[in-house]
Amino acid sequence: MQDYKDVLSEILIDAESLQMRVKELGAQINADYASEDLLLICILRGGVPFMVDLSRSITVPHMMDFMAVSSYGAGKRESAGSARVTLDLQTDIRGRNVLLVEDIVDSGHTIAAVLQMLETRQPKTLKVCALLDKPERREAQVDIHYLGFTIPNKFVFGYGLDLDEYYRNLPFVGVVDLEKYDPSF
Ligand code: IMP
Ligand code: MG
Repeated sequence: MQDYKDVLSEILIDAESLQMRVKELGAQINADYASEDLLLICILRGGVPFMVDLSRSITVPHMMDFMAVSSYGAGKRESAGSARVTLDLQTDIRGRNVLLVEDIVDSGHTIAAVLQMLETRQPKTLKVCALLDKPERREAQVDIHYLGFTIPNKFVFGYGLDLDEYYRNLPFVGVVDLEKYDPSF
């Protein structure tokens, strides 16, 4: 894999702005779920850094669980046409307040499929918290109850989002320069 500095065209959201926004979202969640039970569900793998930081700013007692979804009909840097659960929850969500934590809502197919599947398990409430929203790409309608940032239609990486599985660890969200990025490296 190339050094990220060689394929980065710009930093879209810097680390400080991300941390500030995550704290604001945490405060909103604390207010909305005060005296409620809460279960955070992270959609692997992109949601991990976001959920970890978010969780640390949530003071309402909460549990965490994880699920993974794979996309059909997707190119390497495109997202799903439909989705299939590849790793299911360990927790029974019936009657619980569930908050899904996702890195980005792009076409919307992933989150729409997950919501539809989880709804059948009869949670008390089911909401979505997404770090990023790319509305220009939307194909499936989804309500995002807690949103970090709306971004333009560009391929981004860092803070959970991957460049062919690399660089999820970066503390900022950057835009890939597709002219410079060579996947065969
Ligand atoms: P959707 O089903 O099209 O909404 O796709 C959502 C998934 O596609 C996200 O969870 C990401 O894993 C991936 N994705 C979409 N856009 C980007 C991007 O710009 N960078 C990295 N991953 C992305
Ligand atoms: Mg994802």
